[in-house]
Amino acid sequence: MLKITIYLLLALAIIGGAIGAFHLYRVSQRNAAEMAQYEGQTIKARPFAGKTLIIYYSLSGHTKDIAAKIQKMTGGDMYEIQTADKINTTPWFYLTLRKQLKEHTYPALSGELPDLSRYDTIFVGSPVWWYTVSTPMLSFLQQADFKGKKVVPFSTQGSNYGTFFEDFAQNARNAQLQKSASFNNLPAQYDAAVDNKIASWLNSL
Ligand SMILES: Cc1cc2nc3c(=O)[nH]c(=O)nc-3n(C[C@H](O)[C@H](O)[C@H](O)COP(=O)(O)O)c2cc1C
Repeated sequence: MLKITIYLLLALAIIGGAIGAFHLYRVSQRNAAEMAQYEGQTIKARPFAGKTLIIYYSLSGHTKDIAAKIQKMTGGDMYEIQTADKINTTPWFYLTLRKQLKEHTYPALSGELPDLSRYDTIFVGSPVWWYTVSTPMLSFLQQADFKGKKVVPFSTQGSNYGTFFEDFAQNARNAQLQKSASFNNLPAQYDAAVDNKIASWLNSL
């Protein structure tokens, strides 16, 4: 009986590993196909009109990196959303996160919120959590009113942004939504292509 259980567990681990590896392979193929259109050239961002703010939340740095690139090309101000309590990505956190999303109870934020009235265009970036907007960003959106402002959403994710942009639109009060962009986490070899993707997106706004 013990032998059969061990064989079954081994078989499950092998199948799980194979499915995971195939998924990663598919994602890397899709990333390569998307970024191919931005490689081998230098797209320059045209000067960006109006007073610009880039608001972002970032737990592990990917969204911060994209926000910094947008800042460099637009010359805008930056504002980082921070939670009052530090978020640790323990297995327990993943479970409470699901509950928070279901019950619309989001973490408290620290620091003063930015004065949105000073800006014409506001970029708002967040990681994708459970196929939607991260809870610290949802917490911010609950408090923000974008009346009269152009709002440009952007996401970063492993591979699947799910309903991020629909959910963002539902939660961004009074925003005049502009063309959004999403960024998969990519290896450093794509850095120049990511710059080109951002520049061509900014030029299209
Ligand atoms: C709690 C949690 C949930 C996540 N859910 C998703 C998801 O649904 N889809 C996805 O493609 N990536 C998902 N990811 C990966 C992040 O979206 C991705 O790594 C993102 O770029 C992290 O941004 P940051 O470094 O700015 O925090 C998740 C990560 C965390 C921590």
